[in-house]
Amino acid sequence: MRTLITNIGELSTCTVQLDGSAGIIRDAAILVEHDRIAWVGPVDDAPTEPGGYVEVDAESRAVVPGFVDSHSHIVFGGDRAAEFEARMAGERYAAGGIRSTVAATRGASDDDLRARLRGFIAEMHAQGTTTVEIKSGYGLDVETELRLVRLAAEVTPEVTFLGAHVVPAEYADDPDGYVDLVTGPMLEACAPHARWIDVFCETGAFTVEQSRRVLEAGIARGLAPRVHAGQLGPSDGVRMAIELGAASVDHGTYLTDADIEALAASDTVLTLLPGVEFSTRQPYPDARRLIDAGVTVALACDTNPGSSFTSSMPFCIAVAVRDMGMTPAEALWAATAGGAAALRRDDIGMIAPGFRADLVLLDAPSHVHLSYRPGVPLVRQVWKDGVPVA
Ligand code: NIG
Ligand code: FE
Repeated sequence: MRTLITNIGELSTCTVQLDGSAGIIRDAAILVEHDRIAWVGPVDDAPTEPGGYVEVDAESRAVVPGFVDSHSHIVFGGDRAAEFEARMAGERYAAGGIRSTVAATRGASDDDLRARLRGFIAEMHAQGTTTVEIKSGYGLDVETELRLVRLAAEVTPEVTFLGAHVVPAEYADDPDGYVDLVTGPMLEACAPHARWIDVFCETGAFTVEQSRRVLEAGIARGLAPRVHAGQLGPSDGVRMAIELGAASVDHGTYLTDADIEALAASDTVLTLLPGVEFSTRQPYPDARRLIDAGVTVALACDTNPGSSFTSSMPFCIAVAVRDMGMTPAEALWAATAGGAAALRRDDIGMIAPGFRADLVLLDAPSHVHLSYRPGVPLVRQVWKDGVPVA
């Protein structure tokens, strides 16, 4: 199957950081063959083969790569609307809220969790996301964590084992005993279904030493590390993660100068999660300072029932531009190529020959409208692997 998308007013390839005309082709066309991009260039040079492909006329609208949402927790039961309501009335976010979602998740059937998960995937496709990473972490016993990674693996290859999300109530008096469980039988059961190992390295969750144990055990079992750190306060977890070669440190709401220097000198991406600061009323991290220091920044939604219950990458782009000091072009790059870097993927996040045909046609003339028109459904059509999904 071949598709020619023609008359694209503005094509953001994201093959380089967009800057002025860099990474942008005006009056462009894209030829898709099966699941891959076969050709990209000016519409006047497009291959002409009448009847050789399905033609889609973009009518001067903008096309961007499918969003790569490299951080989500979308296999869970229940919600925490009451907790959000209390927070908007002045309560603070704390890691302990996770435990109430654990109870609801353990009590939900696979069919219920699957239906919910598939609903979130459809919601994400409709907003332009074509790749999503999904974490376990609301089971916290061997049986339920295994259910969660298996369910996640039904819908994405980017599955993360997060048994070390928080210490469950039954281990409250023995957190190190829980780390033994996570690094032993739980890891053994979940690793065959996961690509990544993650840990919530934070006050109220796991110490830097416990986090290191979790990551090292995962690495020894063939998983690649990524880490939640610096969400509620500064922590040595950021540099520990870099030292262990983490693909990404996520949150980074609180970073020291030494953290920023270490990130800039490393291959570790910093994944910012604007939905979290929005929904917890925490201060926004200064993405401008990070980018100027040479840190590679990604943007993700962190969809979860506690700290960020949005699945909208356009929303996160808009907040990153409005409140974190990113330009619209930087935010788009971070939500596409940046997310791909955070997942160490070289087949997604950019529009170029050989890449997967993951594409978003916007109902707008330019990618700038993603942040200029916040909250407006600008996603008109979405292809994943060359197939329309929304
Ligand atoms: O990334 N920080 C840890 N995990 C999630 C929140 C989970 C929850 O509150 O349920 C996050 O923000
Ligand atoms: Fe998270």
